[in-house]
Amino acid sequence: MTQRTKKAPPLRIAVLGSGSGSNCQSLIDAIAAGTLNAEITGIFSDVEGAPILDRARRHGIPCRYLSGSPFKTKIDGEAETRYLAALEACGAEVIVLAGFMRIVKHRLLSAYAGRIVNIHPSLLPAFPGVKSWEQALRYGTKLAGCTVHFVDEGTDTGPIIIQRAVPVLDDDTPETLHARIQVEEHIAYPEALRLIADGRSTIRDHRVVQA
Ligand code: GRF
Repeated sequence: MTQRTKKAPPLRIAVLGSGSGSNCQSLIDAIAAGTLNAEITGIFSDVEGAPILDRARRHGIPCRYLSGSPFKTKIDGEAETRYLAALEACGAEVIVLAGFMRIVKHRLLSAYAGRIVNIHPSLLPAFPGVKSWEQALRYGTKLAGCTVHFVDEGTDTGPIIIQRAVPVLDDDTPETLHARIQVEEHIAYPEALRLIADGRSTIRDHRVVQA
């Protein structure tokens, strides 16, 4: 990726998602509002018929179902080759994981080193893995939240770009807590991408430093 500044051409983003795509929508909306200097050049899903693909179509963004098989929880082997080809074809500079339910493995990580970001519904390093809001409720934390981070070889371990916190209320259910976290996700993801698009976010010694 070339050196980014506020005046650089729009950052070319590809989005990978498996589900509803509400985080992807927050990026689409920020771009449309002129608050994020980026262009989504491809949206790809490992789930045929995932709502995120409908969102792409509604907004005229190129999109495709890309099988993740033969594995269930990771992108590896032939699937990795498929994803690499699609990402290269759409000229992605940065890959945004938005509810993508598979672990990204070595070839993709090295092809896009320091250029893959993820959003996770907890204040990392607390509660990595799935259904983090349920983990927070079970543990009894008083704060929950979301984290946008660069992706590395670990699971939800990469350098943190942004976090936003929400209170956990006594009468919260998994659904109410997740909904409160998602409101913050939709602010955090465009903000994190803005930092990257404007060249204000760099990784030094596994930490993100913001200019
Ligand atoms: C979000 O809660 C995100 O943190 C997690 O998966 C969910 C995706 O939601 N990684 P959506 O598909 O963006 O609505």
